[in-house]
Amino acid sequence: MTTTITITGAGGQIGYALLFRIAAGDMLGPDEHVRLRLLEIPAGLGAAEGAALELQDGAFPLLDDVEVTDDPAVGFAGADHALLVGSRPRGPGMERGDLLAANGAIFGPQGAAIAANAASGVRVTVVGNPANTNALIAAAAADGVPAEQFSALTRLDENRARAQLAAALEVPVASVRRVPIWGNHSATQFPDVGHALIDGRPAADALAARVGDVDAWLGETFIPRVAGRGAEIISVRGSSSVASAASATIDHVRSWALGTDDWTSAGVVSHGEYGVPEGLICSFPVESVAGRWRIVEGLQPDAGARTRIDASVAELVDERDAVRRLGLI
Ligand code: NAD
Ligand code: LMR
Repeated sequence: MTTTITITGAGGQIGYALLFRIAAGDMLGPDEHVRLRLLEIPAGLGAAEGAALELQDGAFPLLDDVEVTDDPAVGFAGADHALLVGSRPRGPGMERGDLLAANGAIFGPQGAAIAANAASGVRVTVVGNPANTNALIAAAAADGVPAEQFSALTRLDENRARAQLAAALEVPVASVRRVPIWGNHSATQFPDVGHALIDGRPAADALAARVGDVDAWLGETFIPRVAGRGAEIISVRGSSSVASAASATIDHVRSWALGTDDWTSAGVVSHGEYGVPEGLICSFPVESVAGRWRIVEGLQPDAGARTRIDASVAELVDERDAVRRLGLI
């Protein structure tokens, strides 16, 4: 059995960081053979073709085939997973939402091409920014493909949040669980430590012992650090995150395909959970069961959490309305 994986923007930075890890089995496990379809625009074909040569030179036992194309019908043919990376990254001083007009136009035609060519059970992971709203655009254009088969990457934010909490508490990151991201993959996101566990025990006491005023630390240090990490990387590195983004994409798809044993985060379609308007692609605490994302229900965000979630959801509503005005949905 071979799984077909389409990667758009495969000639770009994240594409290059993704391909070799997928071929090595990091995404779908050590027993799953993969067929890679690298979809680019003409300007990116050379880079993607070069990556394909290197994939061959890697002699990966799980890699059955690599095809490079600029034709979406060929690129998405039979795809079981589509990783929509191809799009422009932001630069210094930009918010991810500033990319809506430039990038939004990519995702409608790709959604339509997915509907026409991919496997019926295709699972689509949107990485290109602004990821939540691009996923909304792609899902809206994919006639006949349920919106539940689309999700947006917020796992990078969750990984950042877990790493920051681990650093503050001086514990290994593997000890930290249940730090979900709510809302948009943007500066308004809400990384939620209200349910965090450290080695299975609530984080609250350990945090109070370490930082004193927990609310002040969350509001002034932790949340801005996590929500602003993308911009911090851009300012320090000179361009946006690449290897960490690719690694989070691998984590996201692995969780989706192989299941989770605890909560994680993903931008998934709302059916009204937690008062989030139906149809938005919003990040929630989720689990993956039998190959489907399931929103963790029954949590009771306190007033502070509610305010932050509402602010990020309001931004998603604004983005949805903006792409409506642009005629993208
Ligand atoms: P990059 O510029 O290095 O690569 C983008 C590639 O996409 C280029 O090779 C380009 O030719 C290709 N491309 C453009 N339009 C295309 C189309 N219509 N079809 C196929 N390919 C197309 O950028 P990058 O650093 O790889 O980043 C890609 C995207 O990922 C950006 O939008 C960036 O903001 C986003 N990103 C998201 C997250 C996240 O957590 N969601 C994290 C990091 C980066
Ligand atoms: C990130 O979070 O690093 C990416 O979304 C890139 C960006 O523009 O911040």
